[in-house]
Amino acid sequence: MKKMLTVLLGAALLFGTTVLAKGQQEYVVGTNADYPPFEYLENGKITGFDPELMEEIAKRADIKISWLDTNFDGLIPALQSKRVDIVIAGMTNTEQRRKAVNFSEDYLVSPITFLTQETNGIASMDEIKGKKYGVQLGTTQEIAANKIEGAKVVSYTSAAAAVLDLKTQKVDGVLVDKSVANNFVEKNSGIKILGELPGDSKAIAVSKGNEELLEKINAALMSMKEDGTLDQLRAKYKL
Ligand code: ARG
Repeated sequence: MKKMLTVLLGAALLFGTTVLAKGQQEYVVGTNADYPPFEYLENGKITGFDPELMEEIAKRADIKISWLDTNFDGLIPALQSKRVDIVIAGMTNTEQRRKAVNFSEDYLVSPITFLTQETNGIASMDEIKGKKYGVQLGTTQEIAANKIEGAKVVSYTSAAAAVLDLKTQKVDGVLVDKSVANNFVEKNSGIKILGELPGDSKAIAVSKGNEELLEKINAALMSMKEDGTLDQLRAKYKL
């Protein structure tokens, strides 16, 4: 009897796993891999802080994921049209975006940072009015730049393109997340950090109606906060 039970149980398990393997849903994760150290391409592979964080969350939540790299301003629409299920892209959890998507718990708070030219640029944060700023399209930096009195704002598909124009003095400043600014200064000559605006919170976005998935992501994120993995990742990528 015991033996038969074991055989039956074995068969059920085996059957169960196969079904699971075939039927397990794969979630598409959208990002914009042009924002180091948050996410970037290395030998054609999406890498960085966010991808490593998301891969670990997927492992802990026992979900399967695949990646889609697209323009930042296309990420919220992609969630709305369910072309992607999850977005991790150094994305700020804003009230405006919460109307369209749901956000996980925050995983990072970091300030918006001003990059300027080392010599010909703006001398201090007291002089930011009326200048010309480069920002990435669809970002909170674009909104922040537009709030600066008299500012002229040029939007680019990537932050790197904005920095290129800063170096050739086509814009007076560029607004990006702090760790991204540090990364640009490290890799480019002639630019410096001028100052920053109060921090904003980064979270993982999930398309509406995916509450169960969101709960799993939050639980995994929480466990990574508790056991120090999140801090380790931040240190690794200087975030
Ligand atoms: N934190 C900013 C925002 O949410 C910029 C994020 C840009 N991310 C990227 N992967 N390009 O709007």
